[in-house]
Amino acid sequence: MRIGIIGASGRMGQWFLRLFASKGHQVGVYSRRGKTGVETAGVLEFKTVEECAKFSEVILVSVPIAQTAKVVSEVAMSCSSTQTIIEIASLKRKLVPELKEIAATGVNVLSIHPLFGPGADISAKQPYALIPISSDESDELRRFSKILPDSRITTVNEESHDKSMGYVLSLTHFVNLAFLSSLTARNELLELAGTTFKLQVSLAQAILHDEPELLAALETENPYFQNILSDFLKNSRNIESMVKRKDSRALAGLFASTREKIRESDSFRSSYTSMYEILNRTE
Ligand SMILES: NC(=O)c1ccc[n+]([C@@H]2O[C@H](COP(=O)([O-])OP(=O)(O)OC[C@H]3O[C@@H](n4cnc5c(N)ncnc54)[C@H](OP(=O)(O)O)[C@@H]3O)[C@@H](O)[C@H]2O)c1
Repeated sequence: MRIGIIGASGRMGQWFLRLFASKGHQVGVYSRRGKTGVETAGVLEFKTVEECAKFSEVILVSVPIAQTAKVVSEVAMSCSSTQTIIEIASLKRKLVPELKEIAATGVNVLSIHPLFGPGADISAKQPYALIPISSDESDELRRFSKILPDSRITTVNEESHDKSMGYVLSLTHFVNLAFLSSLTARNELLELAGTTFKLQVSLAQAILHDEPELLAALETENPYFQNILSDFLKNSRNIESMVKRKDSRALAGLFASTREKIRESDSFRSSYTSMYEILNRTE
């Protein structure tokens, strides 16, 4: 298949470039800076979005969330109904109505979200969310599976997607940013660190590998995050007040009731062993 990538110099663009090239596709790339850092043999570099779109049967748009609709629309101007445009932005509620308008002009648009980052293994089966744009969901799933076989796919609408991302991405990043911001003398602490602290530091640091603009957009542009954050801060203040009152009974009660709620889940049962497995692999 001939696959074009717009934004190929970026973190996810580079990941998809390696993936598609490894599967034997003919890959063409476009980057505004004209430097994609392409080292893969046989990859074509185009000077314009239009040239890249005309070459491709499938065009993957991997640009910042706020630029996605504009770039998809630019690509669509050079596409016919035989081509497919795929975008991978991490937020969908604002974007999907704009993509629907573009699709109404007769081009095939797929809206997917890779539920992993650019450090993921290209040879492993990776999870994606598919947010249907047309009324023909099965056609979208068929197109997706042709382009990205060996993937796991969950179909979800744009509201549910962004609500989930409010926890999965925004809240996780928020907690880790606050955690790292609160650490003083990090190296000294690591000398004395126990298991959970080491893992928490690794996780918080790993998040910072993403572009600061992307991380900031995930905090400020998800319409559902404000409420999630208010709930989180309310719970934090409740815990803070137990700590300040030295109310260890209430605090132990909260630990116990929280554990009770999740104790039957598979993820709880395997969590302790998983934590040591991850640490043993990284040490
Ligand atoms: N990072 C992740 O973990 C992750 C995971 C899932 C989905 N995503 C999504 O993937 C997309 C890309 O994220 P990323 O982390 O790869 O970001 P990134 O590293 O900042 O890459 C984005 C690329 O887009 C290009 N670009 C920027 N503005 C543009 C514009 N106006 N027109 C055309 N190209 C433009 C830039 O290349 P040039 O300057 O060379 O043109 C840049 O290299 C985002 O929508 C993000 O939400 C990211």
